[in-house]
Amino acid sequence: MDLKSKINLEKLPRHIAVIMDGNGRWAKEHGMPRVFGHRNGVKAVRETTEACTELGVEYLTLYAFSTENWKRPESEVNALMTLLVETIKKEIKTLNENGVRLRAIGDISRLPGKSHKTLLQAIEDTKGNTRMTLVLALNYSAKWEIVEAARKLAKAAKAGEIDPAELGEEAFANALSTSGMPDPELLIRTSGENRISNFLLWQIAYAELYFTPTLWPDFRREHLYQAIIDFQHRERRFGKTSEQL
Ligand code: FPP
Repeated sequence: MDLKSKINLEKLPRHIAVIMDGNGRWAKEHGMPRVFGHRNGVKAVRETTEACTELGVEYLTLYAFSTENWKRPESEVNALMTLLVETIKKEIKTLNENGVRLRAIGDISRLPGKSHKTLLQAIEDTKGNTRMTLVLALNYSAKWEIVEAARKLAKAAKAGEIDPAELGEEAFANALSTSGMPDPELLIRTSGENRISNFLLWQIAYAELYFTPTLWPDFRREHLYQAIIDFQHRERRFGKTSEQL
């Protein structure tokens, strides 16, 4: 039996988040510069997006560039930004044909002008699509996001627009950049690293974590299917006992 047919489509995670890791190591294994790994990582982005859309996953969030990634050599940062622009431009038609809406989380105003502009245009051009939402985390870190939300709420409280005593989890979640999206139920990290690396800290409170040794450029739809099957075999208790479920 093929892997896809083992997936229970009634119990799909509504939102899958992915820490795409291992591009550099993949390039090294192939005796090539790091950028070669990122270029091949785009194939995995395309295949994962396609597979999620076909299955009926509603949201796919990809950690494409963290606030810490600016510390990489300038040439690598530039190459990543160029790749982002090229990929978005190349894929926009396919996104529209397949009903995929593009969104971004992170401080995208700090991206280089061309990357920022292309991204905003793609977000605008796909805003009517409803089959799946592809969220790119760019210049993103969860601690930055949480501080931003706190700042926004503190400002609103100071202006008398909200009552701090009334502030609850829902209102806080609505101040985050993922406002309006369901929390990820499945978080995948490739390349054998078992870390969260400042990604969606608030939103993954109850996510199932799935770590695979596969390097991101080698990640294909079968790897995604395997992660979903694994997710569907877990007992999600949300604080309750097995008997209460
Ligand atoms: C992690 O591998 C990967 C990144 C920081 C960038 C991910 C970018 C892409 C897959 C390409 C562009 C993406 C889109 C959405 C168009 P690493 O460089 O940290 O690998 P290493 O840990 O082996 O060094």
